[in-house]
Amino acid sequence: MAAKKVLVTGGLGYIGSHTVVCLQAAGYEVYVVDDCSNSSEAVLEGIVAISGKQPHYTKLDLRDKNATAAYFQQHSDMDGVIHFAASKAVGESVADPLKYYENNISGLVYVLQGCVKHDIKNLIFSSSCTVYGQPDELPIDESAPVKPAASPYGNTKQVGEEIILESCEAYGLAAISLRYFNPIGAHESAQIGELPLGVPQNLVPFITQTAAGLRDELQVFGDDYPTPDGSCIRDYIHVVDLAEAHVIALSRLLEQKNSANFEVFNVGTGEGSSVFDIVKTFESVSGNSLPHRITDRRPGDVVAVYADTKKANEVLGWKARFSNEDALSSAWKWEQKIRSKK
Ligand code: NAD
Ligand code: WQD
Repeated sequence: MAAKKVLVTGGLGYIGSHTVVCLQAAGYEVYVVDDCSNSSEAVLEGIVAISGKQPHYTKLDLRDKNATAAYFQQHSDMDGVIHFAASKAVGESVADPLKYYENNISGLVYVLQGCVKHDIKNLIFSSSCTVYGQPDELPIDESAPVKPAASPYGNTKQVGEEIILESCEAYGLAAISLRYFNPIGAHESAQIGELPLGVPQNLVPFITQTAAGLRDELQVFGDDYPTPDGSCIRDYIHVVDLAEAHVIALSRLLEQKNSANFEVFNVGTGEGSSVFDIVKTFESVSGNSLPHRITDRRPGDVVAVYADTKKANEVLGWKARFSNEDALSSAWKWEQKIRSKK
């Protein structure tokens, strides 16, 4: 039987590249489009080093309506699409909201138009736990209300889900929105991983860059939150576990096991970890003492959020396999690898 074909938008990015490798391992023929706005074509070498297979790659900016339509015209035989391509920096989205609405919303609309026109029925969407805001109850399940977004970035995920839901109803598409909690870590081979541009905004790349000597110290944003150790709590999910969730979600659609045209799943571990937990675990797996200092709270941070994973475990049939130790040691291995190359 011919391999199923899947289009991965943003497939050279952090989560996309790990998903490409998992899709290849599962026997898919993978097509990647990326504009390299937050990645580079060198990522293809890492993918090939792991899988031995070169994905089909086209440099494409999904904001370009005509070029995107032409791409779909030429690749109308896709079995499904996994849509990662988006801008994702929360702070930048506050400073430049129109960049976020143009990229994250127009790009999504053009992808959906391509799917509708060429009868490509199956779509997986990158959503985020940010849609929940500060939850009223923890752990948080998928039936919890979506709270007014705290940033234009968060709003693009909420509106993105609505656009997909309405498109499923109107055009008979089938879609799964995966609400990621906090992705961390890298492929165990250290061939691919996270490549933040400039000063990292996220905790784990800031930690690994501090340990590598690029940053003087980690600032812990607040130790006076109403949590056991005073720092914020998140659900950190290994990027390889997250990537595998996409492969499982795609096969759910291709095998028509979905129970509705639009489904939503949390993708997290179900465990809440504080900033200090992450620092301690990093110190233990790396053998480094991490310079850190407590500073003011970061505006906009929610106190605590972690997933109820029952639906993902029981309905999707996916469960996180890796621990924070695994994720942080892979992140450290990746940081050392990229530093040794420079
Ligand atoms: P990333 O920036 O590493 O990957 C996104 C990729 O999309 C990049 O390679 C970028 O070059 C590409 N891209 C962006 N705009 C494009 C365009 N117009 N045309 C073509 N390619 C374009 O980010 P990531 O962490 O891998 O995130 C992937 C998806 O997951 C995003 O939609 C993001 O919002 C979502 N998400 C990420 C996180 C996280 O913490 N990393 C959490 C929740 C959701
Ligand atoms: C984690 C914890 C910080 C940096 C963001 C987006 C969210 C999602 C994932 C895409 C928090 C603390 C951090 C530092 C610190 N992205 N921290 N010092 O804020 O949970 O989520 O990325 O959808 O939308 O908002 O992740 O890694 O920035 O922070 O103390 O230098 O680490 O306060 O408690 P966050 P993060």
